Amino acid sequence: MSIEQLAETAQAMVAPGKGIIAIDESTATIGKRFAAVGIENTEENRRAYRELLLTTPKLSEHISGAILYDETLRQSTRDGVPFARYMAEHGMIPGIKVDKGTVPLAGFPGELVTEGLDGLRGRLEEYYRLGARFAKWRAVINIGEDIPTGTCIDANTHALARYAALCQEQGLVPMVEPEVLMDGDHDIETCYEVTEAVLRSLFAALYEQNVLLEGTILKASMVISGKDCPEQADVQEVAESTLMCLKSTVPAILPGIVFLSGGQSDEAATAHLDAMNRLGPNPWPLSFSYGRAMQQAALKLWAQDMQGNWRKAQETVYARARDNGLAALGRWEG
Ligand code: 13P
Repeated sequence: MSIEQLAETAQAMVAPGKGIIAIDESTATIGKRFAAVGIENTEENRRAYRELLLTTPKLSEHISGAILYDETLRQSTRDGVPFARYMAEHGMIPGIKVDKGTVPLAGFPGELVTEGLDGLRGRLEEYYRLGARFAKWRAVINIGEDIPTGTCIDANTHALARYAALCQEQGLVPMVEPEVLMDGDHDIETCYEVTEAVLRSLFAALYEQNVLLEGTILKASMVISGKDCPEQADVQEVAESTLMCLKSTVPAILPGIVFLSGGQSDEAATAHLDAMNRLGPNPWPLSFSYGRAMQQAALKLWAQDMQGNWRKAQETVYARARDNGLAALGRWEG
């Protein structure tokens, strides 16, 4: 696999006005989202729901690709078209979540490390054959009393870099996602310091592992106040802090940065992205890879009437894609 091909895929993922829809919830996580709206967590319901999302009419106007879960990459539309083929035929790049989730980091209470490196080369080889052209690995960093530790940060970024190198060897663009969680009562300055330390460690680790940045996408969390912080930074402050943090840590050669929504409201996720792009020009395209902020309205509608609201739910997905696509250009009107 040539670096040119990886770079081309990475650039297409962040094409102007386009972003990624994250629908890679594990079976347990989608189960939680279904339970909240009263949907049973069966294989057919998971398949049908992913079909609803992926077959949204005109989705590719604003969506360059989707991150799928292992099960979804092996599933098909009700007409028997594998989702990966459906996506490719409709101008969207199939991606795949390849980490195996988090476990407690031994010896470091309250901290997590992501697993999934064992056997990863073989899994990536198969995912490529099934049509995936990019992958995602999520590391989770908790903010709390005396955490994160440097040990936790480095353990997580080391794994991200090992994963990224394997992806590039197998022809997949690695989307590296070090998520600094919004949970807690910390202020935005604390989030800034932690995010800066995480990104410094990440890019040092990527360099150590010979990862080619031209063929890598960063999935970042925004610099934002903790959910329970009494003082909530406004849209402008989040946009300015996030940009400053990224500019001081992320090399300009990276083809693009996409954000996770991380529990922000739909509106906040869009407003923050829009504000950052209005502050441009920036060194890299800034776009979205939202999960909840793309899906939550549609899931609610579908849960109310799975047959009757199919179209209405798809219209909501399209509207969220359009709004976030405009925000990726700094042209969202609110
Ligand atoms: P959220 O946008 O819901 O945070 O999900 C994005 C994602 O892929 C997290 O790994």
